[in-house]
Amino acid sequence: MRAQGFGLGLIIGMLLMWASGQGLPSATGKNLPEPPCIPATAATDYVHSVIQADRTFYTTEIVERMQVRGTAVASEHWKERGMLPLPAQFLKEAGLLMRGDDRGIRVRLLSQWPINKDNRANTDFERTGLSEIMVDGGRPYTGVVTQDGASYFQALYPDKAVSQTCIGCHNAHPNSPKKDFKLRDVMGGILVTMPLSQSSHK
Ligand code: HEC
Repeated sequence: MRAQGFGLGLIIGMLLMWASGQGLPSATGKNLPEPPCIPATAATDYVHSVIQADRTFYTTEIVERMQVRGTAVASEHWKERGMLPLPAQFLKEAGLLMRGDDRGIRVRLLSQWPINKDNRANTDFERTGLSEIMVDGGRPYTGVVTQDGASYFQALYPDKAVSQTCIGCHNAHPNSPKKDFKLRDVMGGILVTMPLSQSSHK
């Protein structure tokens, strides 16, 4: 069996050597075609769907499950009290780690009715986007912005009240300027920012 395996490996190896000699594209070869480009909207959609999936899993399988079992509770003051971060804080912390990465991708949660004032709209794009996503059926508000001479593609995705816990907590929070969120309301947005060229970001 071993000899057979060796023989097969040798044949495959020789075939590969022949193939690379014939100019077939290889991972290191010069004939590698230009990688196909994907639209910026698709790239931010990918990032957004990963973030959403992670946050949903964190909410249902960690925060809610630990709470039901009485193992651990999520709290806004998780750091000081040794508790679990809230889902919004989980997303925020992940966004801060992305900032430390030199790819230039940024993620941030924002709202017209923020519990935390840091989550207010700071730019024209963010202000217009927050009102546009209130009316548009689920698609992000997108655009190109310039910051310090570099161009970025931004997409603001609606963040909806998908469960009773979202509205229960926000409506009851002393710092929430809005107390009448309803199920499926757009509570704010998830902003994904991407540099438009590899060298354009710091
Ligand atoms: C247990 C309370 C609680 C729950 C449950 C909760 N949030 Fe929040 N949310 C907060 C707090 C506190 C903040 C502010 C976090 C920060 O930035 O310090 C926040 C921040 C946000 C923000 C950013 C704007 C702001 O208010 O500062 C959005 C948007 C948001 N939450 C949406 C949601 C959605 C959607 C859900 C349900 C999937 C949800 N939240 C569940 C407490 C909660």
